[in-house]
Amino acid sequence: MTQDLILILILIHEADGVLELRFNRPEKKNAITGAMYDALTAALQDADARPAVRAVLIAAEGDMFTAGNDIKDFLAMSGGLASTPASRFIHAIATFGKPLVAAVNGPAIGVGTTLLLHCDLVYASPEASLSVPFVDLGLVPEAGSSMLLPTRVGFARAAALLLLGEPMDAETARAAGLVNAVVPADALRDHARAKARKLAAKPPGALAAARALMRGEPSALHAQMRLESAAFSKALQGAESREAFTAFLERRAPNFSAAAE
Ligand code: COA
Repeated sequence: MTQDLILILILIHEADGVLELRFNRPEKKNAITGAMYDALTAALQDADARPAVRAVLIAAEGDMFTAGNDIKDFLAMSGGLASTPASRFIHAIATFGKPLVAAVNGPAIGVGTTLLLHCDLVYASPEASLSVPFVDLGLVPEAGSSMLLPTRVGFARAAALLLLGEPMDAETARAAGLVNAVVPADALRDHARAKARKLAAKPPGALAAARALMRGEPSALHAQMRLESAAFSKALQGAESREAFTAFLERRAPNFSAAAE
């Protein structure tokens, strides 16, 4: 994929100290390919390094935030998750040193939801929903979500999300503390942008220190992410995920009876 094409699939815009990254693959529900992860990771690394960038806003074009990892890419990842564009992106967002704001305009599936757990402020339209159907795909949670979700919303709600794979609507996510506010779709991006600009105008040193203190000592999270990565890699190579991915691409219901044998 050429650099131009990558930049079209991830729109990048900078103004008033805010770097805006927008998923722009609406015809594929903003499913994220390896090249898109690489573009996001490069943009985050660049934003971390440049003092002019004071905050990052993640948003999306179209009617979805993102349908998560591209399932065709999953099928091709027979070597596992480690050292892939997806794992590099997850590491980059989990260790990012500046404020992260998200504007969730529609369903956020898989990594679309788990990336939000690393954001500081999340705004959602009434049409938004959060879902992490990793188990339905024969996979396990990633990006620290197996630890962050139970911690943030309690085990019961985390189990409904992570084990049942049930989506959480925007208002429920707000009540659960995963979303700051539900904002009408036509005002969502401006609202989130205004909050990002507000953060961008604050003293960056104090803001970075406050963020770090709120996140706490990161070693437990990083250890959990390593465990997730190993389990995810094993699952990616297994029959259950292969059946789930193939069924999705063939537009049929998966059949796990053979996969369990
Ligand atoms: N990976 C690759 N392609 C995807 C995709 C994904 N995660 N999600 C959607 N697409 C593609 C579809 O294959 C389809 O492509 P096509 O037009 O070439 O056939 C296109 O995007 C539109 O999707 P479609 O399923 O027709 O739209 P829908 O409105 O009926 O359903 C979703 C939207 C998001 C509910 C459905 O596509 C879906 O369940 N996607 C998979 C989500 C998922 O499990 N992600 C992984 C999480 S770990």
